[in-house]
Amino acid sequence: MTARHLLEVTDLSAAELEQVIALSVAPIAALGAPLRGQGAALIFEKPSNRTRQSMEMAVVQLGGHPVYTRGDEIGFDIRESVEDVTRIMDGYHHLLAARVFDHSIVERMANVSSVPVVNMLSDRSHPLQALADVLTMTQQWGTLGGRTVAYVGDYNNVARSLARACLMLGAQVRLGCPVGHDASADELEILDGIAHGAISQFADPADAVRGADAVHTDTWTSMGQENEKALRRAIFSTYQVDDALMALASPTAVFMHCLPAYRGDEVAASVIDGPRSIVLQQGHNRMHASRGLLAFLVGVRP
Ligand code: CP
Ligand code: NVA
Repeated sequence: MTARHLLEVTDLSAAELEQVIALSVAPIAALGAPLRGQGAALIFEKPSNRTRQSMEMAVVQLGGHPVYTRGDEIGFDIRESVEDVTRIMDGYHHLLAARVFDHSIVERMANVSSVPVVNMLSDRSHPLQALADVLTMTQQWGTLGGRTVAYVGDYNNVARSLARACLMLGAQVRLGCPVGHDASADELEILDGIAHGAISQFADPADAVRGADAVHTDTWTSMGQENEKALRRAIFSTYQVDDALMALASPTAVFMHCLPAYRGDEVAASVIDGPRSIVLQQGHNRMHASRGLLAFLVGVRP
């Protein structure tokens, strides 16, 4: 059987995404320890708190043994090729997962791997985050169908995966992003083609947030962009999610952020630390969503 990979949430069908959510909330014992006696390689080219911790614990909860490795120990295409790394590691492990700068690395891994490859964040996408995000919103509302999800700020890896996952589950997605850091026309066309949701984009964050059921944001400066920090702060300064912006959302709207958060930049402390914030539930769901996803990839079905 060909291995299933997760490089982006759209590697799942909408029905499969629902199955992953169901597995994420299933009792751990019901999953049957599908990784018992098996290894899972977790390779990180960038720092991580949530992704490393939640993936290690998800592997343990499925009966497996996680092996954390820093990217510079492996040296993709420096010490040896991505393909050689992958074809050796898939003989040791039942799963390979990587956080990389360049998305093409996880694509090349998936091209040659005999076991599932999971993208733990690349320059293009962050599907594990999106799984936790839609799990969290499903817990809030029961279903995303008919709900409005706003994303304010940089149209980055987190935003791309979040938009796809929400659209797959039937939400309306409204982006509020500055010109030049927004979804391109080609990207909007792709998003528009994802059933069953609806996508729209605004330069004014107020237009994106008005009436929304959830307001998401992320850092203005992603890992690898640190030398652009001052410039980005200037570009995004009117895109902070503060109390005035949240006041435009639905009275029951929740605030969400993948973390790490920079209070006073993309979000006001009063919002992220306030009563509408569900960022801790969202962060804790990273482990449950990863467990559901890994179980799915090795063949468990709800
Ligand atoms: N949200 C997220 O991926 O966090 P880490 O970078 O800490 O893993
Ligand atoms: N967009 C951020 C997400 C961090 C979890 C980054 O890529 O650094």
